[in-house]
Amino acid sequence: MKILAIETSCDETAVAILEGEGDERIARFRILGNALLSQIKMHEEFGGVVPSLAKREHAKNLIPLLEAALADAELLVEETQTISEGLPEQTAELLAREPELSEAFLSSVGEMARPDIDAIAVTAGPGLEPALWVGINFAKALALVWDLPIVAVNHMEGHTLSALARTEGEDLIMEGYELPILALLISGGHTELVAMQEWLSYKLLGQTRDDAVGEAFDKVARMMDLPYPGGPEIDRLAARDEEDEASNPFRLPRPMLDTDDCDFSFSGLKTAVLYLIKERGTLTEPEKEQLAREFTDAVIEVLWKKTARALDESGARTLVLGGGVSNNRHIRAAFTKNMQEKYSDASLYLPPAELTTDNAVMIGLAGFYHALRKEFADPRAIRANGNLSLA
Ligand code: KG4
Ligand code: ZN
Repeated sequence: MKILAIETSCDETAVAILEGEGDERIARFRILGNALLSQIKMHEEFGGVVPSLAKREHAKNLIPLLEAALADAELLVEETQTISEGLPEQTAELLAREPELSEAFLSSVGEMARPDIDAIAVTAGPGLEPALWVGINFAKALALVWDLPIVAVNHMEGHTLSALARTEGEDLIMEGYELPILALLISGGHTELVAMQEWLSYKLLGQTRDDAVGEAFDKVARMMDLPYPGGPEIDRLAARDEEDEASNPFRLPRPMLDTDDCDFSFSGLKTAVLYLIKERGTLTEPEKEQLAREFTDAVIEVLWKKTARALDESGARTLVLGGGVSNNRHIRAAFTKNMQEKYSDASLYLPPAELTTDNAVMIGLAGFYHALRKEFADPRAIRANGNLSLA
């Protein structure tokens, strides 16, 4: 089964084509095409993602990315015959809010042969709604022209499933999971502990009550005058601090560490950094490294303690980390060590680096499993849902 996947929930525009075979027990995926444009540079000067700008960029990038992905997959065939009568009006209607995309759509998709694709997968949420709508409307227009079913994908399910994938040569393999699976999803918009009870069926065990952990990384980085996105910058700075923990002059709080639940809170930690910087005035380079280290340690301690609690509560013996923050080297190292020491009977899955941040391959993976079950959406009913939840 060939899936065309589209992701526009935040500041990456991505289109991928996956060929999947197998079932829920064992499946193999070949990535036939994978095109992605990051808008990070563009949002950098604003210190964060600007939704209207993201929306405009997605509209501009989708057609070139679609063409690139189809070309990679050797599925791009130009055709002189134009698309059937009536369709230009209908696609123009679907893309009415993106006139530039609408025009490009007709001159590009309107002049290509229908590619050998079986279904379209598109992110329906969570994310920035104006950004999500661009991808959704684009998917609807493609589905209409090519007469294909659509799967509306939850972005967080994409993060979860892709983190479970193992690479084998150029393929991705998904097999042999013991349920329930516990997922710690940590990104710019989310911090959640979710148990996958049955395949593709989730229960929320805990979540942040205020800031997402990636948001805390980004805001703290901003206080330290580091560029956006701040997570990777703090990661690098912390890695340069080679002193041991005892000699770190900074001590930050571990919010909600001992509460009787699996919830998180990061806004107090962020505020503590703010006060600390205000009190100190400017920080020297070694002090910045130490502060980055202490902030990271505080985050890790809270993430780990709540994850351990969720492992105990759910009985899960499979833990998977997903979302952009799971790229953090200190978090990866600490979780690897803690799992070996404290849950040696359990397995830990860390996503391959290129799959941690937003991409369309993960949307295609999730799309494949829902397409297998014929869980397609009524195109007229698909809506962007900024707060779409997994459970
Ligand atoms: O999953 P993602 O690409 O987008 C969302 O769905 O939010 O996650 C982006 C977030 C940003 O907050 C970014 O700073 C953070 O992931 N991030 C990191 C690292 N790499 C990305 N945070 C800490 N350490 C990293 N190495
Ligand atoms: Zn994400």
